[in-house]
Amino acid sequence: MPLLVVEGIEKRFDHLEVLKNINFSLDQGKALAIIGASGSGKTTLLRCLNFLEYPDSGRIWVDGELLLDAGQQKRLSEADVRFRRLNFGLVFQSFHLFPQYTVLRNVTLAVELLNRGKEQTKNSAIVADARALLNQMGLSDKENAYPHQLSGGQQQRVAIARALALKPKILCFDEPTSALDPELTGEVLRVVRSLADKHTTMLIVTHEMAFARDVADHVIFMDQGIIVEEGPPDQVFGQPKEERTRQFLSRYAQGG
Ligand SMILES: Nc1ncnc2c1ncn2[C@@H]1O[C@H](COP(=O)(O)OP(=O)(O)OP(=O)(O)O)[C@@H](O)[C@H]1O
Ligand SMILES: [Mg+2]
Repeated sequence: MPLLVVEGIEKRFDHLEVLKNINFSLDQGKALAIIGASGSGKTTLLRCLNFLEYPDSGRIWVDGELLLDAGQQKRLSEADVRFRRLNFGLVFQSFHLFPQYTVLRNVTLAVELLNRGKEQTKNSAIVADARALLNQMGLSDKENAYPHQLSGGQQQRVAIARALALKPKILCFDEPTSALDPELTGEVLRVVRSLADKHTTMLIVTHEMAFARDVADHVIFMDQGIIVEEGPPDQVFGQPKEERTRQFLSRYAQGG
């Protein structure tokens, strides 16, 4: 059984149909890359999965549990949304770290808030976890630094540690390197690659085609709110079936 099943997701903004009957699934431990032109609906799809947008229709299952059924009359409560959102970790294009907190605090904060008022996980255990994640991200020496003292690539690696600290079942990336200078892109991609090697279940929206081909187990190409084509990376990149996929990829091959 797949870890994530997305069925019939549709989303409109006024009269603009941004997502039209999106269906896909993702197996435990696999990496799914979503590629597609600007405006094709990639971010909106990630936002629907993370309960930042409410789809007009469709259903989302994680681990066999129906997380969202947009057809249901009754909307979920805020608390319920927060709880269900924990299935997903989200790493944004522009980091979104708290500027007033140190690197370590940025990673521990959400976990502390989550544990508040519950059977207490010791704060020392939360800090130890955060340190292990920062070490994994190659940032052990930066735990007391503030975000403005870090490069963009370092900030993004803190954001990845923060997302992992909440132990999401599925880690989502929305163009994690597109705000970075090319020389900083590599260090973030290496971290994502290492997570893939550890069989972290990931959904990666990216414009880095070589990276997507290398790291993903499965690729989805979206255009104008639909999944035009999907398959193993070597097939989608090497022998695309659809004309629209070929056109999109040839624009990339020409450098834009
Ligand atoms: N909150 C909103 N209100 C109205 N329209 C929106 C909203 N969010 C997104 N859109 C529109 O939905 C369409 C899809 O946007 P989305 O951000 O999902 O595209 P994308 O594939 O992520 O593009 P990019 O590669 O540039 O990030 C666009 O036409 C966008 O203008
Ligand atoms: Mg986007």
